[in-house]
Amino acid sequence: MVFSGLDKKYQDLLLAAQTAMGRAYAPYSNFYVGAALLAQDGKIIPGANFENASFGLTICAERSAVFNANMAGYRLFSAFAIIARHKDFDTVDITGPCGACRQVLCEVRELSDCNLVGILSTTKMDKIELVTLDDLLPKSFGPAKLGVDLSKWR
Ligand code: THU
Repeated sequence: MVFSGLDKKYQDLLLAAQTAMGRAYAPYSNFYVGAALLAQDGKIIPGANFENASFGLTICAERSAVFNANMAGYRLFSAFAIIARHKDFDTVDITGPCGACRQVLCEVRELSDCNLVGILSTTKMDKIELVTLDDLLPKSFGPAKLGVDLSKWR
């Protein structure tokens, strides 16, 4: 799919992720990632990767968006978008979340009580895939496996 084929709400979400990509702090990898979450009330919350000289301390764009949203009072979402580029080149394939972010997004899915739609894009938005978290992390581990009821955290 290409950008024009997306629903307007997903176009807006992806454009917010693109803006967030411009705020990435990535002096080490030079790989700029932007993410955006669509809250169930329509609010869009962005995030970008924030690297560290101690490389393993880097926070990815997706988790940055989740933590940013929590502090803004949002925990219930219906979709997320991810886009990336390298300083020196555009991505030719979609960027999917890393394994750690997939696990965090599964937590968000269960908290949201909604099977989140992921919009994964190339830099130029000439190739876009819509995915679910079951596509990204099948047979996942989450709160329900621990018998935890998240309703009071919504
Ligand atoms: N990165 C993200 O922000 N999200 C992902 O899902 C993939 C990787 C960041 C982490 C690091 O700053 C850079 O991309 C290269 O790995």
